[in-house]
Order: sequence, then structure tokens, then C-alpha cells
Amino acid sequence: MGSFHSEDVDEFVTLSDDEYRPPPLPFEDDDNTTVDGTIDTDSGYVDESVRNNDAFLLDFDNWTFLNHGAFGASLKVSYGRAQRWRRYLERQPLRYFDRDLLPHMAYGCRRMRDFVNAGRDTTTLIPNVTYGLNAVLGGYAREYQGNCNNSAPKIVLWDTSYGSLKKMARMYVGQENVVEIPVSNYFHMWKDEPAADVFELAFRDTMTEIRTAGKQQQHDGDAKILLVLDHTTSNTALNMPFQLLAHLAKGDEYGESDNTLVLVDGAHGLLAQRVDLSNGGSDGDGDVVDFYVGNGHKWLSCPRGVGMMYCSSQQLRDTVLRRPPCASHGVDLGYQNRYLWDGCRDYAAALSVATAIDFWERRGSERTRAELKTKLEDAVELLGDAWRPPSLLQNIDYRATLAPLQFHSPMMALVRLPDKLQRRQGKEAASTSTDAKRLQDYLYDRRIEVPIKCVRGELFVRISCHVYNQLKEYRRLADAVNEIC
Ligand SMILES: Cc1ncc(COP(=O)(O)O)c(C=O)c1O
Repeated sequence: MGSFHSEDVDEFVTLSDDEYRPPPLPFEDDDNTTVDGTIDTDSGYVDESVRNNDAFLLDFDNWTFLNHGAFGASLKVSYGRAQRWRRYLERQPLRYFDRDLLPHMAYGCRRMRDFVNAGRDTTTLIPNVTYGLNAVLGGYAREYQGNCNNSAPKIVLWDTSYGSLKKMARMYVGQENVVEIPVSNYFHMWKDEPAADVFELAFRDTMTEIRTAGKQQQHDGDAKILLVLDHTTSNTALNMPFQLLAHLAKGDEYGESDNTLVLVDGAHGLLAQRVDLSNGGSDGDGDVVDFYVGNGHKWLSCPRGVGMMYCSSQQLRDTVLRRPPCASHGVDLGYQNRYLWDGCRDYAAALSVATAIDFWERRGSERTRAELKTKLEDAVELLGDAWRPPSLLQNIDYRATLAPLQFHSPMMALVRLPDKLQRRQGKEAASTSTDAKRLQDYLYDRRIEVPIKCVRGELFVRISCHVYNQLKEYRRLADAVNEIC
């Protein structure tokens, strides 16, 4: 590719494990972090928080940091590895760009692919989820516009989808071809039917409307659809049953399966949740997820500047993903050549991926996930008890969270703030995003970093839980809020 003096990255990535030799590090490996833990028998989860505070760069002395979900926070080891690469680059830039960078990018790519259990040539590294969403939405619009049995290609997303995704969809296919599933209109169902899968119900209703409208307009109801699902929604911290929805979308009920493409926005997937993309993310009967994009800097805790993109089908890689959002030397070449190099920039984050994966694999990814989930449940209970309205003190059915906890993600949840902070108009919830901002600023002034969300007129705090968080931090949040009450 271009004038690089290294071999073909597509070949590096697709070689079998037997044939492949990882490139040696061009400097000494100074990562000698050891991770071992002790079981806290009282709480049942592995409480290594004190020790883990050593693993992150966060300023624990001055901040209660309960917002990992926003932009992540880097592990010391992955940040350190990125810094080593930056220093190495500046000692002899051509040696780095011409000879070392691409083989090491290919290595990071192989490690990422194995981490998500994906097929050999399905996964590449990208700068972030935004880049991946642009690749898929842009490519989809380009491939199918004017090519679709009298009907424009549609992008179907949710009122809970990430804000910039909605804008991006409108930019690529036009407002009239974006359908937003109004899932938050279904949230009230959890009150009477706590087990209701509102995503499925909302999805079924909207898809039926789309297909019926299509039939009435005489284009057989078979418009091409790109359905965008979230692994975890951003503002509401809900987990979508993405495999189930993808199966439904591709089933006969809503048209021909090859009329629907499924993209999963996995900004909050890697590490915090098990991402298994063997078999296209399905439980064994075919590819249901066509594209999955994820961030390295969030729960995996790499420095910012690296994400991943998975696409199960060669045909889609050669069409929808044919032109990357930022084209460079590799644009006429294979998938990896097109995506791994997008011009001269800082690639150090991508070169730290293997170090972050090593860290979590040594610590135990499954064990880490189990720990986050238990700790989040404990934190929700703590806050729920601290903020439960006095009139409901004895009520065991009181729910502290926006959704029943099984529908929230295992590492973030929305916890309802006390009644005294909620604005009402008659019986209606009437808080605003300005109220949310004021409260968030109040907490920030007390050095508690946590977002306040306003959902349908009610105020919630979105708590995050990573290995470094401790229950006493949620207690600090509970007290600060009670003080303002
Ligand atoms: C659900 C979701 N999608 C997409 C993004 C965009 O991620 P990035 O800004 O890293 O590209 C975010 C960021 O928080 C997110 O939460």
C-alpha cells in the first residue's frame, strides 16, 4: 500500500494462527503489572477496587468519578504502551511509519477479532464508533439509493438512539427516509408488566406500519431497510435484545430477509458485556448482525482513538464498506488496507489494544463482567434506599430505576432522583433538561462527576460502574443529593 515498506495488512490479518508470527515489539516491554484479587465474602463480589485504583490514571483523590460511560478512562498500561509508541515514532519517524506501524496494527486487529470471537477477515480497527457508523450509513445510502424497487432505502432507528446517529441518518438518506421507533412511549408498560420487552413490542408495531404503508404505495412493501440497534443505549442505559430484534427483522414476518440489514451500535459493548460475533452474533442459525461497531476507549479502557468494525459478509464489505469515510492509499485494495490507514495521524491508541486485552484477559473478562453487574446492583439498591419517598418506605415493589434492572445494561443504570427534586404540573412529571443541568453542575461543584438525565419529565442519575468504583462513592452521591433536597 502506498510507499510503505511493509507487507500487505490484509494478508497479515487473514493468515491462520499457525502461519502467523506476531511482530516483535521494537522497544522493551515494560508492562509488568500483575493483577490478582481477593474475594470479599460479605458482598460476594471480587472487591479489588482499592488495588484497581492503581490501574487507572483517574484522580481518585479529588474526584468521585461515576461517569465512565461518557468517554471512558484509560488504563495506565494501555496509556503507557501508547506513550512508548509515540516516543519511538519521534526517534525515527520513517522507521515507524514505513516498517513498524502496519504489522503492529494488523496484530491489534487480530487480537480484537479474537476478543469478540469473530471470523478471520471480518474485523478491522477504526478511530471510533462515529467513524464506523459513517462507514455503514454512508455506504448503505450510496449502494441502495435509486436502486430499490421504486422506494428509497430507509434507516430505522429509535427515539433512544445516540443523538449524532440520528443526524447522520438524516444527512445520508434524508429526513423522510428515517423512521424513529418511539420506544419511550412504551416505557409506562413496565409499571404494570415489569417483564414486558418494550423494544420488541415497539419494533413489531413500527415494522408493521412500515410494511403496510409500503404495500399501500404499491412498491410491495419491500423497501430496503437498515435497522440500527444499540447494544446499550446512551442516555437511558438500556440493553436492547439485539439478537432477538435482528432475528425478527430478518424473519419472514417483515419481508424478505435480504431486504433488511442490521447494524449494532456497540459503543458500550467491549469488555463490559460479552460480545460474541461468531456466527454473525446469532445463536447458531445464520448471520443476523451484518455490522457491529465498538469503542476501545470506553469499557475496554484504551486511550481515545481506537474502535472496531465487524462485517460478516464479504459481499457487504465489497459494496457497503467499499469506500471508507476517509479514503487514502488503500482505497482500491482489501478491507484492512482501506480501513487501517486513513492518513498520517496518531495511531498510538490502536497500538495499545493488545495491551488492554492482555490486562483484562489476565484479570478475567468474565469475572470482571460479573463483578460490575453485582456492584451495579448494590449501588442501585443503596441509592434506591437513600432516595425512596418516605410514603413508600415499606413498599417492596418500589422500583428505583427507569426500567426493571434486567433491562438496564450490566454496568450503567438510570436511578430515579428523590421526589423533592422532581418538578410536577398537576400529576404530570414536568422536570426539564435545564433542571438536570443545574443538578449536574451542583454535583460537579462537589467534585462528583455523574450525568443527570431528564426522561419524559422525570430526573434520573445515570451511574456507571467500572472496576475502580467503590460503594462508598455511591454513598457520597446519595448524601450530596439528600443534602440539596
Ligand atoms: C450509544 C453510543 N453510540 C455512539 C457513540 C459515539 O461514540 P464516539 O464518540 O466514541 O464515536 C456513543 C458515545 O458515547 C454512544 O454512547
